[in-house]
Formats: sequence, C-alpha cells, structure tokens
Amino acid sequence: MEITVAITGASGAIYSHRLINLLVAEQSVSRINLVPSKAAIRVMNDELDLQPLSLKTLPEKLVEQNKQKIKLISNDDIGASIASGSYHTDSMVIIPCSMGTLGSIAHGISRDLIQRAADVMLKEKRKLILVVRDTPLNLIHLENMRLVTLAGATVFPATPSFYHRPSSLQNVVDQFLFRIMFHLGLNPDKAFSWTGDKTP
Ligand SMILES: Cc1cc2nc3c(=O)[nH]c(=O)nc-3n(C[C@H](O)[C@H](O)[C@H](O)COP(=O)(O)O)c2cc1C
Repeated sequence: MEITVAITGASGAIYSHRLINLLVAEQSVSRINLVPSKAAIRVMNDELDLQPLSLKTLPEKLVEQNKQKIKLISNDDIGASIASGSYHTDSMVIIPCSMGTLGSIAHGISRDLIQRAADVMLKEKRKLILVVRDTPLNLIHLENMRLVTLAGATVFPATPSFYHRPSSLQNVVDQFLFRIMFHLGLNPDKAFSWTGDKTP
C-alpha cells in the first residue's frame, strides 16, 4: 500500500507526527509520500518538541523506525510522481488540512504539489481524506467542505472522541487516528470499537 501524507499549516501537528509513526509500523504500508507545506513546518516547530525542524530534517526527527519507507517530497515540486494520475497511490491524507488548502482543493486551484496531488486523487476517484481543523467555521469553510465531499473526498474533522474513556492525550490522538486508518483500509489492532454494552 502506498499512501501520501500531506501536512499543512493548521494546528494539530501531533496528529501528523503520530499518524506517520503508526503507518510506517504497518506491514502492508510499503511507502509514504510525505509532503509538508511551508506553513506546516512553521506550525510543527510551534507545536512539537522537536525543534529545530526543517524540510530536510523532517523524516529523521518525526520517525523512529522504518524511515526508509518515507519518501520526502517538496511541496514546490509540481513535477513529482504524485502530481500525475498515471502514478498510482492508494490514498492520500492531508493531516491537518488548513482552511486555505481546503479552499484551493474545493476550487481546483492546484497551485502547489499538495493541492495538485489532491486534485489528482479526486479525478482518479481514489481515496482522499481531509483532516480539516478550525473553529468556529464560516460559511466559506462549510461550502468548501460540501464541494469536496461532492467531488469524492472524505472530510474528517479533527474532532476527537471520548466514549473510549481516554486516560492520556496519546489515547485521544490514537483513537482518532485509528478511525482514519480504518478508512485507509488498515485494521489497527489497538482501536477501540463501541459495542453498546459497557464502558471500557
Ligand atoms: C500556530 C498556527 C496555527 C494555525 N492554525 C490553523 C488552523 O487550525 N486552521 C487553519 O485553517 N489555519 C491555521 N493557521 C493558518 C495557516 O497556517 C495559514 O492559513 C497558511 O497559509 C496555510 O497554508 P498551507 O495550507 O499551505 O499550509 C495557523 C497558523 C499558525 C502559525
């Protein structure tokens, strides 16, 4: 399985950091195309205790094992493999997804590699997950979410759940990411599944 993970400059670097580590640990994931935006690197420096983070040091600093599965691609490289539908990737996740990038995807702007690769996923009818984050939402955000949903994307708001009684921030983040992993066709064994019976 080959997955593109794009990171944009919305709050929530903890989600992308952890998701990449969960994905490289999956046997069925052979390659992750990692594309951070410039704003993403700025926000990651604000939110993660991994400073100084730069584009070049990103895989090294973000991932502990299986680094060879990560292919780092510059968001400026509009000629990269994932910019073309002829190159096959199974799915793409933008995590977190800024309202700016959401708007560009909704309107087919394709001004950088993340936006173009997302456009490709939609035109090729492949899985595209947008982990949008902002609050409150204005009408433009809502309309853009409606548009990308009509075009085939899955809008996955960064809203964690609490019915699994998390005991740490890591539990909160992981359960949210497990839901995304199911959508990617993976089956994380630590995921909590609500049965309707008892509180865990
Ligand atoms: C610390 C910080 C937090 C931010 N949080 C958000 C956010 O949660 N949602 C959002 O849409 N934009 C947020 N922004 C603004 C985006 O980074 C900005 O709109 C940027 O141009 C997005 O560019 P990109 O989509 O190319 O990454 C934040 C910026 C900073 C510096």
